[in-house]
Amino acid sequence: SKSLSLIGKTVLVTAGPTYEPIDPVRFIGNHSSGKMGYDIANELARLGAEVILVSGPTNQKVKDKRVKVISIMSAMEMYTVCHDYFEQVDAVIAAAAVADYRPRHIANQKIKKNTEEFVIEMDKNPDILASLGAIKKEQFLIGFALETENEIEHAKQKITKKNLDLIVLNSLNDKGAGFGKPTNKVTFIDKDFNIQPMELKSKEDVAKDIVQKIVEHYE
Ligand code: PMT
Repeated sequence: SKSLSLIGKTVLVTAGPTYEPIDPVRFIGNHSSGKMGYDIANELARLGAEVILVSGPTNQKVKDKRVKVISIMSAMEMYTVCHDYFEQVDAVIAAAAVADYRPRHIANQKIKKNTEEFVIEMDKNPDILASLGAIKKEQFLIGFALETENEIEHAKQKITKKNLDLIVLNSLNDKGAGFGKPTNKVTFIDKDFNIQPMELKSKEDVAKDIVQKIVEHYE
């Protein structure tokens, strides 16, 4: 039977996209709606955990006052908040779709369309999850992998590179999986590379499966 309690545990969840500003009106972003991460945060709170939800810009709502929402815009802001809280949490679930690059220069004024070509120089953002993996002590770290090819291989590499305990792989080749949709189809891969493919489910039910992995870890 499934255990029902995460009372006494604190879990940090990242959710949504990040927006990387170009000028005061423009940004580089991605299609994450935030739903997967918010469903996870709500499920953790339902089981009694204290939740710190570090969220990029979304229209999602939390259902429980045990979820403390910290809103950020950019990957650099998400990085800072995650590191501020990391020492006090028992587990992390990184569902955010963090932008890998940010514009090197942010214009103070709206950029005018005076030229035929416009090039944006970009710098690599820090990998937030990998930076937490590098300093983790007892924290249980769950990452996502969003892949379009060689899915299992790429996901395994991310487990190793980011020092994860578990990865939740979603493939854009699976119908009903990934961005925006109300459903997801995931495969769990643990740090010993055990592979567990799951059925297509609502994101609420996928969130339950993910949260059960934390419950099992503490059993
Ligand atoms: O928000 P929805 O519309 O509901 O969609 C859900 C989702 C598809 C966004 C979600 O299920 C998902 O897969 N999130 C991770 C997307 C992603 O960016 O994957 P990745 O393979 O690029 O990153 C791997 C892991 O490292 C992720 O846990 C990511 O949060 C983390 N990461 C990546 C880059 C970076 N600079 N910092 C990070 O922490």
